[in-house]
Amino acid sequence: MKKYNLVIVGGGSTFTPGFLKSFCHMKEQFPLGKLVLFDIDAERQSVIGEFGKILFKELYPEAVFHYTTDIAEAYQDMDFVFMQMRVGGYKMRELDEKIPLQHGIIGQETCGPGGFAYGLRSTKEMIKAIYDIRQYSPNAWILNYSNPAAIVAEALRREFPNDKKILNICDQPENVVRSCSRLLGCHFKELDPVYFGLNHYGWFTHIYNKKTGEDLLPKLRALIAERGFLPQDAEQRDKSWLETYGMVKQLMEDFPDYLPNTYNQYYLYPDYKAKHLDPNFTRANEVMASREKRVFEECKVIINAGTTKGYINIHEDAHAEFMIEVAMSIAYNKNDRFIIIVENYGAINNLPDDGMVEVVAELGSNGPKPMRVGNIPTFYKGLLENQLASEKLAIDAYYEGSYQKALESLTINRTVNDAKKARIILDALIEANKDYWPELK
Ligand code: G6P
Ligand code: MN
Repeated sequence: MKKYNLVIVGGGSTFTPGFLKSFCHMKEQFPLGKLVLFDIDAERQSVIGEFGKILFKELYPEAVFHYTTDIAEAYQDMDFVFMQMRVGGYKMRELDEKIPLQHGIIGQETCGPGGFAYGLRSTKEMIKAIYDIRQYSPNAWILNYSNPAAIVAEALRREFPNDKKILNICDQPENVVRSCSRLLGCHFKELDPVYFGLNHYGWFTHIYNKKTGEDLLPKLRALIAERGFLPQDAEQRDKSWLETYGMVKQLMEDFPDYLPNTYNQYYLYPDYKAKHLDPNFTRANEVMASREKRVFEECKVIINAGTTKGYINIHEDAHAEFMIEVAMSIAYNKNDRFIIIVENYGAINNLPDDGMVEVVAELGSNGPKPMRVGNIPTFYKGLLENQLASEKLAIDAYYEGSYQKALESLTINRTVNDAKKARIILDALIEANKDYWPELK
């Protein structure tokens, strides 16, 4: 069996230990020759990397494991690149969330002005990283799940139009499917969804039973109305995520046609959400106080003990398992179905060809084969065209260094929808991001 070389860009992430465990767990199905962690933050990465060394020595001694801050060492001879960078770290995420909230507007890492701010930061570093990767591994598959995925995907579409081995993907639609399986009492692999939208802004039109073809959406609608909606791994989730999943019930009461992606709450109830978010303690604070603390503390305990035995809080996780399955579908030409961000070209018939949309696709070694959903109803088309314009204007602003385009991007965003507020928030974001953004004139 061929062994694959893989690098994780953003190796110092809180998600990396879960990936390392999942790689160990899935080594028979997806054997690695070499696994490298790459990060520009040597301090964070060394904690995760030292943990990884101990873990791999115990569970995966046949694979080469190391971590580095050196580009050549990271990108040489790779088959797969997993990209999970967070430009500016949680400190900048905190500002993405808090600056808009100070003005009564949604503060979120991927939606609204926060997503815009993060988008401009990510775009610059993602483009640079991909040029670096291509210098050393011209044929590696690049699986990008760095946020904000919608804006990053638009940027990469423009910068690398001929590179067919960059795949933008998010696990949230899959998380929603898994949550449905919890409610239905079945395995998520028994479900066959149909989905359309943009990243973090989409809907399931059907959730079929893979075997019988029965559409389970009516049943799910009734179950959600009766019991509400919980993430599959509800027991491991922070409060804010439980509230987010809980909003699906409300979304389906108001818009019963389809099952929504959880992120739709920000676009459809912007005032309500902005009022219910705490401007002094946002998700970034919650992550720093929970996942970040837990992961780094546990890694340090393991490093001091010199063994992972007896420490069980870091475990394989659904997110990592999902991304490894994506890689396997490419590596083994399995043509499994995933919900992927692709250039539209008719997948959603009445949206523009050059929009980066999120739909079901079969995925094999020649890339994704998106499935068509036909025309979408006027309500959804209106919402998505509006947001697509906002995302495209964000990338126009990036390339043109245009303050005007940035202002237009924020003004047209449903979470803002007001030019005066957009200008105030934009000016504050420019100040906060001056070390990261291109100059907007
Ligand atoms: C979901 C989203 C991702 C997001 C992740 C973690 O999986 O699809 O885009 O990064 O949640 O969010 P958190 O708030 O826990 O850092
Ligand atoms: Mn996502």
